[in-house]
Amino acid sequence: MEVGVFIPIGNNGWLISANSPQYKPTFELNRDITLAAERYGLDFVLSMIKLRGFGGATRHWDFNLESFTLMSGLAAATTKIRLYATCATLTMPPAMAARMASTIDDISGGRFGMNLVTGWQKAEYDQMGLWPGEAHYSDRYEYLSEYVQVMRDLWRTGTSNLHGKYFTMNDCKLSPRPSREIDLICAGQSDEGLAFTAKYADMNFCLSKGINTPTAFAPSVARLAQANEKTGRDVGAYALVMVIADETDAAAHAKWEHYKAGADVDALAWIAAQAGMDHAASPTAHTKQITQSEGAVNFNMGTLVGSYAHVAAMLDEIAAMDGVRGVLLTFDDFLEGVQKFGEHVQPQMQCRSHPMAA
Ligand SMILES: Cc1cc2nc3c(=O)[nH]c(=O)nc-3n(C[C@H](O)[C@H](O)[C@H](O)COP(=O)(O)O)c2cc1C
Repeated sequence: MEVGVFIPIGNNGWLISANSPQYKPTFELNRDITLAAERYGLDFVLSMIKLRGFGGATRHWDFNLESFTLMSGLAAATTKIRLYATCATLTMPPAMAARMASTIDDISGGRFGMNLVTGWQKAEYDQMGLWPGEAHYSDRYEYLSEYVQVMRDLWRTGTSNLHGKYFTMNDCKLSPRPSREIDLICAGQSDEGLAFTAKYADMNFCLSKGINTPTAFAPSVARLAQANEKTGRDVGAYALVMVIADETDAAAHAKWEHYKAGADVDALAWIAAQAGMDHAASPTAHTKQITQSEGAVNFNMGTLVGSYAHVAAMLDEIAAMDGVRGVLLTFDDFLEGVQKFGEHVQPQMQCRSHPMAA
């Protein structure tokens, strides 16, 4: 099973709490985390794009670096690990994104890929005059499909002449082309998002809401498998997991309870209000669920809380699920978390004997 790290390009990572580690997203921090991940043989790192934070007492994600430029710096600082930037497709034309990918492919020696997002938080784009209007909620994956077609034309042939609903290319050129096919990720969870993923992407993130319930990923993995069946493609499922590990189960659970007790309710209310604006989404849509229930403090991410051995066993359980190709990890404290993962968790994981042997 592959292991990736969702590096903290935004302040405080994925814990919306006054009691969790408080830090700003510097290049130095993200470089040190990425170098540690590379040293322990982890497979990839991914940075998100977030253009407006959630406020509240912790000012959650009010501080965010830009994804492509961060990954470009990391490409120059690393040698083996794969690197994925997130493309906010409403903010730049596909021909520019394709050229940026080509550039980072060159800097990294073929280790670069792209996570494509349509955008779900209106305020991020409205503040720049880039929100297309209410229709975007329902046609955003149609927009993304044209976006990919332009980029792939350019990467594969060096020319795009697509005359679509959203983009008009007139003998548009790209040179140099990337050294290899650029891997594409889509984290879409809606029916439209999964259909897009199964048609165009190479990787998808699967979600669950449970605490210490590896099998809770099964429905999400199964939905991707159904979408794959329709296109005949084999898009890999990667489970998004927060790891809170310590010497003992009790010590890890004490940290988790402490983080929950400090939940930043104002920041959580802002996220809920933004997600609530998407009237095209069903009440069970991922964006409408992320601030509900006991795990709201970490976006309701599937969370593994326990001793190093316990977390290793639960990750092996995820690895054994049909269709799972990897995990994307977040931590409460990233630098320490990746180090402890490399020293204490990975050596106890059966599904990670290959990097250990290397
Ligand atoms: C691991 C992961 C990373 C994501 N990264 C971003 C991001 O960087 N920016 C963003 O606006 N949305 C991001 N999203 C949201 C997704 O792109 C997507 O909109 C969301 O999962 C809901 O699915 P839907 O678009 O099919 O409704 C991410 C989601 C996941 C699970």
